[in-house]
Amino acid sequence: MLKDKTVVLGVTGSIAAYKAADIASKLAQSGAKVLTVMTGSAREFVTPLTFRSVTGQPVITDMFDSQSQFSVQHVSLADMADAILIAPATAQIMAKLVAGLADDMISLTVLATKAPVVIAPAMDHNMWESPVTQNNVTRLRARGFTIVGPGKGHLASGKEGWGRLEDTEKVLGALRMTMGRKGDLLGRRFVVTAGGTQEPIDPVRVITNRSSGKMGYAIAEAARDRGAEVTLVTAPTALAQPVGINTIPVNTAREMNQAVAKAVLNADVLIMAAAVADYQVASPSLSKIKKEATGRLTLELERTPDILGETKGSFLRVGFAAESEGLVRNAAQKLKSKALDLIVANDITQADSGFGTDTNRVVIIDRAGSVEALPLLTKYEVAERILDRVNALSKV
Ligand code: CTP
Repeated sequence: MLKDKTVVLGVTGSIAAYKAADIASKLAQSGAKVLTVMTGSAREFVTPLTFRSVTGQPVITDMFDSQSQFSVQHVSLADMADAILIAPATAQIMAKLVAGLADDMISLTVLATKAPVVIAPAMDHNMWESPVTQNNVTRLRARGFTIVGPGKGHLASGKEGWGRLEDTEKVLGALRMTMGRKGDLLGRRFVVTAGGTQEPIDPVRVITNRSSGKMGYAIAEAARDRGAEVTLVTAPTALAQPVGINTIPVNTAREMNQAVAKAVLNADVLIMAAAVADYQVASPSLSKIKKEATGRLTLELERTPDILGETKGSFLRVGFAAESEGLVRNAAQKLKSKALDLIVANDITQADSGFGTDTNRVVIIDRAGSVEALPLLTKYEVAERILDRVNALSKV
């Protein structure tokens, strides 16, 4: 969604300014045109050359630079921005935005723009907790600005507390969510599941699978980025909790079943991307199982609830099928037996698709029997294509 979008990145004078280079780089890698604006204080921490290098675009440092293409029309940045992201944002810049000041290129651009604004604060924890700053944050939120972070942890002062610039992924998630607020899934309620469930054997051991959760998270984020209200029911993964998504962590298939049953009560769409264990240990041991010197250990397994099979309602139902043979035939059979609207099948024998990878090659089959084979795409792109199909189906 950031491709060919113009993002004005405002960098202000915090020690976290060096992290803004990573944000700028990731934005540029997503295909955005990134125009960095730096305050004088920001330039004390990091040089314009860094941002020019990672974005391949000019960096604006001076409102009155006669050489700059942006100085001719001092509000031209405000007009051309699809979004403005201030990261890191100091207490000072937030106070200026609240007051409507326009004596530096960032505050001027925000004052003059109609584009969405995202602010990622970074400062000393006492400055963040100060009633003045908190009041400013409230007022910026009331103006429709998105505030992402700050995070908690080690601060430049050597102390621990709230004030760290939020992680790049979260900052970019907040930006995409804010830019997509008026997207084509506006107001639609999605429940998405992700990750591989963990079925306990004893207090320290589980039966699980190789699902990374990446496909489900990509669907949840892509839906959010198009304006949907998303609940993500997730089995344990190594992925960061996405911004702006109601995330419900679960461990087992049974817990996922309960969470999904509750979440779908007022949902429009259920997408089951989770790799749910088909079997659980019939009686997990309450104490750690000790190894015996010889012999075998036998675990008795029983079926888990079939979440997709059991959840009924007026919402659209999308399933996944991970197959190692007979891809379309097996997936079509699952679509039918679970009475789904769509099934997304992937061939898990391919190295570049399926579990753990960032890319996926899937076949989408719908209830009318049409079979669409997609090329190799990133999981986010696959998510977009699934959502296109869901959107078209919901209009039928
Ligand atoms: N699913 C579910 N509840 C389960 C197991 C799977 O809701 N207990 C969902 C998965 O999230 C996925 C779809 O059902 O969307 C997969 O269907 P399933 O028939 O369980 O696929 P496999 O587990 O791959 O089946 P098999 O092992 O028979 O190939």
